[in-house]
Amino acid sequence: MKKALILEKTTYTYPGTKKKVLSNVNATFDKGKMYAVMGKSGAGKTTLLSLVSGLDTATEGRVLYDGQDLSKLNRDHYRARSVGVIFQGYNLLNNATAIDNIVLSMNISGVKCKKKKAKAYELLANVGIDKETADRPILKLSGGEQQRVGIARALAHNPDVVIADEPSGNLDAETEKNIMQIFQDIAHNEDKCVIIVTHSKNVAECADEVWGLNKGNLTFVKEKYVFPHAHELEEKGATSKEPA
Ligand SMILES: Nc1ncnc2c1ncn2[C@@H]1O[C@H](COP(=O)(O)OP(=O)(O)O)[C@@H](O)[C@H]1O
Ligand SMILES: [Mg+2]
Repeated sequence: MKKALILEKTTYTYPGTKKKVLSNVNATFDKGKMYAVMGKSGAGKTTLLSLVSGLDTATEGRVLYDGQDLSKLNRDHYRARSVGVIFQGYNLLNNATAIDNIVLSMNISGVKCKKKKAKAYELLANVGIDKETADRPILKLSGGEQQRVGIARALAHNPDVVIADEPSGNLDAETEKNIMQIFQDIAHNEDKCVIIVTHSKNVAECADEVWGLNKGNLTFVKEKYVFPHAHELEEKGATSKEPA
């Protein structure tokens, strides 16, 4: 599995403060996997996301993307090309339509594609937003629909890394499940590295790996047990035959 992000002894302290919000964090995030980072309010989840999304840089230690130190990369390029963020409050333009939000974001990221609007409708359709809904202003969409638009926008420039900050905060259980299914598809079928920070156990249950953030430490909690496919069992000689 290809590594997307590596945190090496990463420490972060906000300017003018003393507290190590992140303290000597070591972690690896691969492509093709969905990760949940769990932690209480104030644990440093948003801070962690701002480092891996290139909005800020580590005080000590390094964050590597594709083997390159983010503090030495052009982070504007990194953000425009390699990473897609779904913000806690969605950060959509409320008076603009869903489709315009996506096209505008493509323009800002410098996406070079002849039929941007058609591509934007396709991105929205992939997350369950039909054309009629796509043509409505954000203000006239439900919370779950806005969340989907936020996901489509994060994917508009086809990034390797997709990051979501508490994506299911205001969603009902059914919508939350559907949204998590979308994130799983993005990780497993499109080979992206999906990192979701959350305090929801339901969200964490959908992830391939769960990490916990507590008192500045990020620790591996568990890996999801996925029952192997029949052909894999056969390859390993693990298929049992009924005794005669
Ligand atoms: N700009 C800032 N300056 C100083 N401290 C901050 C700043 N932003 C967040 N913090 C502090 O850093 C800690 C982690 O915050 P945050 O990453 O937002 O936590 P979470 O997303 O897990 O709720 C908190 O104690 C918070 O008060
Ligand atoms: Mg937060």
